[in-house]
Amino acid sequence: MIIAVDGPAASGKGTLTRRLAEHFGLARLDTGLLYRAVGFRIIEEGDDPEETAIAVAAAERLQASDLNNPALRGEAAASAASVVAAIPEVRATLRAFQQNFAANPPGGAPGAVLDGRDIGTVICPGADIKLFLTASPEVRAERRVKELQAKGLEAIYTRILRDLQDRDARDASRAVSPLEPAKDALVIDTSEKDADTVFETALAHITSQNN
Ligand code: CDP
Repeated sequence: MIIAVDGPAASGKGTLTRRLAEHFGLARLDTGLLYRAVGFRIIEEGDDPEETAIAVAAAERLQASDLNNPALRGEAAASAASVVAAIPEVRATLRAFQQNFAANPPGGAPGAVLDGRDIGTVICPGADIKLFLTASPEVRAERRVKELQAKGLEAIYTRILRDLQDRDARDASRAVSPLEPAKDALVIDTSEKDADTVFETALAHITSQNN
């Protein structure tokens, strides 16, 4: 079983995919981490993430072990990620890793759940289940502030809100793989739903699709 979960920043993809992975025994891939790792390496080396050749070289050097760096969770990595994510050659380089994960889930898992921006549209267009999460920018910014503070990272609401909106605009307007729901995705607005309700909504949909 392949489950694709897409949506804008802090819409609840991580929480939902962790629960789905646990419930169904699926391998989980947070594909945002790939873009964050590429963007983070570039800014750490003092280079410009808008430079195609530099970004592609960083994507080609990416290793699975790079994804464990806690600094990838910060907003600097997120902003750099959304810049490199608009470069078609970077997306093409990272596509194989994601598709291979879905086709051969690690640990002998019977399937995979992937979250990102283009899983249901580009990476796994044949996924069994496609979900697209949304929420208002204000709710998402509040969630991200709490998440970052819980990790001991700096978080100022107005700055986070502006960063999310900048990132959403970049993600939705890029020419390749823009952020948009697949035609056959169930769209769930999580603005006024807690994590349990979102999980129940997803489970009910999965059950109805599998019957
Ligand atoms: O955790 P959050 O939702 O804030 O972001 P993320 O999923 O870690 O993604 C960071 C950035 O990477 C996004 O703003 C996108 O620009 C990019 N991304 C993408 O283009 N495609 C993906 N499949 C995943 C992330």
